[in-house]
Amino acid sequence: MAFINENYLKLPGSYLFAEIARRVTSFKNENPNADIIRLGIGDVTQPLPAACIQAMHTAVDELARQETFRGYGPEQGYDFLIEKIIETNYTKRGITIGKDEIFVSDGSKSDCGNIQEIFGTNNIVAITDPVYPVYLDTNIMAGRTGILTENGTFENVTYMPCTAENNFTPELPKSRVDMIYLCCPNNPTGTTLSREALTEWVNYARENESIILFDAAYAAYITEEDVPRSIYEIEGSKEVAIEFRSFSKTAGFTGTRCGYTVIPKTVTGRAQDGSKHDFNKLWNRRHTTKFNGTAYIIQRGAEAVYSTEGQAQIKETINYYMENAKIIREGLQAAGIQAFGGVNAPYIWLKTPNNMPSWDFFDKLLHEVNIVGTPGAGFGPSGEGYFRLTSFGNTENTKRAIERIKTKLKF
Ligand code: MLT
Repeated sequence: MAFINENYLKLPGSYLFAEIARRVTSFKNENPNADIIRLGIGDVTQPLPAACIQAMHTAVDELARQETFRGYGPEQGYDFLIEKIIETNYTKRGITIGKDEIFVSDGSKSDCGNIQEIFGTNNIVAITDPVYPVYLDTNIMAGRTGILTENGTFENVTYMPCTAENNFTPELPKSRVDMIYLCCPNNPTGTTLSREALTEWVNYARENESIILFDAAYAAYITEEDVPRSIYEIEGSKEVAIEFRSFSKTAGFTGTRCGYTVIPKTVTGRAQDGSKHDFNKLWNRRHTTKFNGTAYIIQRGAEAVYSTEGQAQIKETINYYMENAKIIREGLQAAGIQAFGGVNAPYIWLKTPNNMPSWDFFDKLLHEVNIVGTPGAGFGPSGEGYFRLTSFGNTENTKRAIERIKTKLKF
């Protein structure tokens, strides 16, 4: 008899978006003619940029010819992509990042989930609450937490509530933590952290020898000038921060899969004997052992994001989604519903009317007006009483959804 990893038994029954899909399928089976509008999972709807498609076609043709065929590529990613990433996202913003500090992957969900493998299991994890479920669930799987308690929190995890009352800005923890997950722009609240707040976190991490795991998957959606696009804009962060970036929401790669993780060589942790070690080296060891590189075709597509045409095309699509965000935010406000986010992020975080429990609001929205959203409680106990809508739908459906909420939803 083989034994199981019992940490998996501590997890909630299903991953949040799987549970939502299950409820929607069951509703659809009972109501086959319902005209469902999906504003739940943050999945893009607009096609890939033409520049990426063109580059991928060319790459396919290269693989068809003996002289240009390629097999395994470098596990960390091809230089042609890494150089463009560094030039556009870092050098132009005055940040120095080396080629061997970037690791291209099949997306930042994998990286955010896998990164905890290079950390000791005795580390204390701090997460914002609500939070993207991947950070917490993967630490539960690894055994870094205790069990789920009655108040909806896991033992041995530091929860940092982010609600309208504190302007969705997590307070520094009262007792020391080792691994701090920050997502900015935030999924699910759609809000951002100010430069000052991020500086406090970097200072905290430096003083406490903690590491910030900074998920910047939505950086391309920032519209306000003063919001940092990267944690490395903050002084001292290259000693304490690992950054995750994604092409999914930036350029429509949710299906094609490409992202990258930045680990400056100056980010270190300690072994039990007190000796210091680079996380970069550990991740390189993991990456080369468990991953054989993102597909060449996809990396050529990602490279094209940085071409002049690619940059113009992604801007156009992002503007399209952000226009949807405006429609949702303003529509909800006009319907008397308090709404946050949607200015620097594709997510709108609304307060459920009359403090309705968020799964009840999910069912009400689905049954009464056939709209799918995401219940705030699915992101953590402080998400209770909130609800997330995404702006990734098409504009016509977004407008129809808001019209239904305004005219048909009864409170
Ligand atoms: C979400 O809806 O939160 C995202 O689509 C999930 C993801 O990016 O994995």
